[in-house]
Amino acid sequence: MEERVALEMITALSAARKATHLYPPAHPKYQQAVAELTAAVHECVLEGPFTLNVHLGRLYQDSRVLSSEVSGSHAIAEALEAHRVESITFEPDVSEHDAITLVEVLAMRPTPSLDVAEELERRGATAIVVAAIVDEEAEEAEERDRIREQDRALYKRLLGVLRTLTARIQQTGDPNVGEAGMVVEGILARLMDDSAAVLGLATMNGQSETNLFHSINTMIYALIVGNELGIPEEGLTSLGVAALLHDIGKVAFDTTDPAQVEQARYLHPKIGADILSRLPEQDRTPMLVAYEHHMAADGSGYPEREAGYVTHPYSRMVAIADRYDRLTTVKPEGFAMTPDQAVIQLLRDTASLLDQTLTRLFVKSLGVFPVGCVVRLTDHSVGVVCARGADSLHPRVRLMYDADGLLLESEREIETAEAEIGIVEIVDPESLAVTVSDHL
Ligand SMILES: [Fe+2]
Ligand SMILES: [Fe+2]
Repeated sequence: MEERVALEMITALSAARKATHLYPPAHPKYQQAVAELTAAVHECVLEGPFTLNVHLGRLYQDSRVLSSEVSGSHAIAEALEAHRVESITFEPDVSEHDAITLVEVLAMRPTPSLDVAEELERRGATAIVVAAIVDEEAEEAEERDRIREQDRALYKRLLGVLRTLTARIQQTGDPNVGEAGMVVEGILARLMDDSAAVLGLATMNGQSETNLFHSINTMIYALIVGNELGIPEEGLTSLGVAALLHDIGKVAFDTTDPAQVEQARYLHPKIGADILSRLPEQDRTPMLVAYEHHMAADGSGYPEREAGYVTHPYSRMVAIADRYDRLTTVKPEGFAMTPDQAVIQLLRDTASLLDQTLTRLFVKSLGVFPVGCVVRLTDHSVGVVCARGADSLHPRVRLMYDADGLLLESEREIETAEAEIGIVEIVDPESLAVTVSDHL
């Protein structure tokens, strides 16, 4: 088929589209435009189905580029792309009704809810097949949301398991942790796959049940250290369960009673170790970690112990994780450090409280801008760090506010390195009234 035939059809299609805007259907000029279009379309399908493609503003007949000099070419390419149409195929039995319907649908205002293929079908244009442009960004966002929902469900399951476990220990003193182990393994699998997503989960905090949230977040951070250190999977499960249960001794106290708070603080390691010593399995790690996680590197802390007492490495990892979560969690009096401030505090704490090597390892795995940091970028937009990027100064950022300070309707992620955008400052989420975990 000659190129001329295709070009005539494009011109006729554009003219008909214009006519629908200018004249009512009964008007002779409209009728003429439709008749010409129908004739042009029929000529195109003489030898079989005819497909018109659009790509980056150019029209193609199959893979042949069509001249863009012809009248209406730009308008049609633009209209198709605005309607997210990648190709139109006219079948040989295409009718005048089909052609008119196509023109009418392309004259509609393109909106996200307008699906050209569906609209043609609804109006009975059966001999025109339309393929939509695949919006990769939208598909990626959808997939990301789906995974995020799954991760949150996993976190909630863990909350449920821990809630049940805590209640059972309170009632019967029976620490059966089998189910906790299974959920820890679930988190661990996600951590191997996408540690940034799991770190994002750890920004979740509860208004109530703060101990449960604290336990899960401590577990996540401890697993981050353990993973960075290269502990094999079995060891990580054990570390995860131990971290999850490190404060289990608090079940013996009513922490809403101010008189018991101080007691709970000093006695929960010992009581927790007692409870966990009754674990049926051989693994003594949870018991040790509960007992040792408030023992400081310089010999201070509690419970008291003899000089030269060496704590289990897992206890030291949990101490770091516990500290980081406490520093970054909003207290009843409304104060919490931003992740970068907490990292600096952790490094200071290595002078007395925390294991220096393990803390450095944790800080290294968090990066310069840890997941959960709210940052202002050089173009003035604001977002939350959602993953490590190409290098430590250029994380991946999920944008929340555009350059004018307006809240974005749909979140967009950018690789700051690729976009050549830098970070100007870290912003206190409180000053923006932002709940970070809602955006991760
Ligand atoms: Fe504790
Ligand atoms: Fe704790």
